[in-house]
Amino acid sequence: MTFEEARAQFPVLERYAYLQAGSVGPLARGTIDAMRAADENRLDEGRGSLAQFTRLLESREELRATIASLVGVFPDTVALTASTTDGCNIVLAGLGLGPGDEVVTTTDEHFGLIGPLHMSRAKVVVVEPDPEHIVAAVTPRTRLIALSHVLWTTGAVLPVHELKAATGLPILVDGAQSVGVMPVDANGLDYYTISGQKWLCGPEGTGALVVAEPDALRIAHPSYLSQQGYEQDGAFEPKDGAARFDPNVTPTAAVAGLQAAIAAIPDWAHERARDMAERFRVRLAEAGCDVVVPDERATLVSWRVPVEVSAGVVARLAEVGVIVRDLPGRGLVRASVGWWTNDDDLERLVAALGRPSLPHYA
Ligand SMILES: Cc1ncc(COP(=O)(O)O)c(C=O)c1O
Repeated sequence: MTFEEARAQFPVLERYAYLQAGSVGPLARGTIDAMRAADENRLDEGRGSLAQFTRLLESREELRATIASLVGVFPDTVALTASTTDGCNIVLAGLGLGPGDEVVTTTDEHFGLIGPLHMSRAKVVVVEPDPEHIVAAVTPRTRLIALSHVLWTTGAVLPVHELKAATGLPILVDGAQSVGVMPVDANGLDYYTISGQKWLCGPEGTGALVVAEPDALRIAHPSYLSQQGYEQDGAFEPKDGAARFDPNVTPTAAVAGLQAAIAAIPDWAHERARDMAERFRVRLAEAGCDVVVPDERATLVSWRVPVEVSAGVVARLAEVGVIVRDLPGRGLVRASVGWWTNDDDLERLVAALGRPSLPHYA
């Protein structure tokens, strides 16, 4: 598939410089077609037949295998969730931490991770997202390291495997900003979350959680999908593997949509996204933006603006069809650069930043 063919799958890119996959990726025609076909089939065939139920379960296993292969793990270590937040909640609830325990995290985490951390009742130790600070924060009470693979603020990549090796502690990695846009190997990490709606360009309400040792994590919130047999008092035989943590029946159309979205990712996606993000950083810096350039970086490109104007910058860019977001309270505006992004998108952003109404915001 050529770049132009691959890009043409996303109608939104014909109208906008759509740079918002860090929140929700562009939708491909094929993804919506697959979702429509799944729903049409249910209109005609109904939802409750044995054949439909069997197909539903099969399609979940196909998706589980597809997601497993994206991050280099076995399908039986993958739970199908609705989001990264779901994954964080499953892990934190299952670990059963208490007030005597500590969890080390960073200053740059999304609420999807730190909300569940807070509710775990453990003491949440927050340090700069710097490996030395993270390791230094570990005490004999530390039960978990919990942080992002790619920071949603700056696009910095944290050395999650090295942190696991250096601390020897269980690690929960928030993979919301990594899977789909860069190579990810979840082997050797205890828990790794995936969002379907971001860089994988799947529907909302899709995601996954890798649990390296499913037998070792408590099932805090069982769903019907968790068991392969139960008693009338609720005692149950868990499913084999991480399927026991599946929190809900993902809508059939969403399963079909995510599967189609992943199938549409070209072989060259990661390389192209990385190179394009570098071009954004160079070009935005040339245009006078105060670009954040972490040593290890992914495909989120952020630049600094006065904190009180960031929302205004985003709104003004949207007026001319350039879709980015700000990181409220941090004085950062963020462009999400995907494998589908092209130089026109970049030049539209640069031109819009150079408009007279935005001079000192660049
Ligand atoms: C680093 C990070 N973690 C978690 C989330 C939440 O993802 P989800 O909506 O899949 O729970 C986001 C979303 O922006 C994010 O950037």
